[in-house]
Amino acid sequence: MARPKIALIGAGQIGGTLAHLAAMKELGDVILFDIAEGTPQGKALDIAQSGPSEGFDAALKGANDYADIAGADVCIVTAGVPRKPGMSRDDLLGINLKVMKSVGEGIAKYAPDAFVICITNPLDAMVWALQKFSGLPANKVCGMAGVLDSARFRHFLSLEFGVSMKDVTAFVLGGHGDTMVPLVRYSTVAGIPLPDLVKMGWTTQEKLDAIVQRTRDGGAEIVGLLKTGSAYYAPATSGIEMAEAYLKDQKRVLPCAAYVDGAYGQSGIYVGVPTVIGANGIEKVIDITLEGEEKTNFDKSVDAVKGLIEACKNIDSSLA
Ligand code: APR
Repeated sequence: MARPKIALIGAGQIGGTLAHLAAMKELGDVILFDIAEGTPQGKALDIAQSGPSEGFDAALKGANDYADIAGADVCIVTAGVPRKPGMSRDDLLGINLKVMKSVGEGIAKYAPDAFVICITNPLDAMVWALQKFSGLPANKVCGMAGVLDSARFRHFLSLEFGVSMKDVTAFVLGGHGDTMVPLVRYSTVAGIPLPDLVKMGWTTQEKLDAIVQRTRDGGAEIVGLLKTGSAYYAPATSGIEMAEAYLKDQKRVLPCAAYVDGAYGQSGIYVGVPTVIGANGIEKVIDITLEGEEKTNFDKSVDAVKGLIEACKNIDSSLA
């Protein structure tokens, strides 16, 4: 059986890291696509030359023509511009919306059966626009945010508790922005919910609140340190986790920006919710019950996403 084909639309920092991870995990053959001439070709060659040492079997190719993504099983989209210090993800809206139009058209023409994972920011609005521009079924188009935000939350929690990251589970829902909602009640150390750990005296509410805030600011903290771009190792790893769930029909339960049609009292938008990812793409949106502040914060986050979607419609009338 032929290997799956993974098309990476955007061969920048995240795109290159995605390619390296996909090859090392032997998820399939990789096409790196970019408008910049030479960049995808150079990265493809460089990564292919890590094959003998790493011992992977995967073909890598760089491309500037959408025809090269033909028949891709998975497309991961990072095309666009990243944040600079002082910029919010929302500041990228106008520029990256135009990029989503060309990417959506390219995917519609050459890879209409692909599972599409969008990483370009502002995430929730970009994945919404990408689905519209591409016309692909909503269950085959999703956005990577919750896996990354949850990974950041898990990392900070593991440091606080001095335990393995493997034993920390966490859920971050809502939009991928300042209003994201780390769900403390549904986050655990080896199954023990965080509020119980506060009661047990293992941490304090103040420390937990600080970790929640650091999670919300997780991307900005890295932008501030790097100064010339935004995070790419963990975003790429998160995208690959979702691609693998699809390619291997793993039925993983992962939070991601999915099309919501009725769940959480919302419809017609993309926002971060728990999902099941398998061979049919987003196979299920899990509609958990949110209480009190969780619901207020989630609704606030949804309002922020809706605001960005409206801004997209104002910029491009074909989306209205
Ligand atoms: N089509 C294809 N590729 C494009 C287009 C386009 N229309 N416009 C820009 N690109 C390419 C750039 O040439 C660049 O190689 O997208 C790539 C983006 O790479 P980086 O600038 O290195 O950005 P990266 O850190 O990978 O982040 C990409 O993901 O997390 C988000 O906020 C981040 O929106 C940003 C995106």
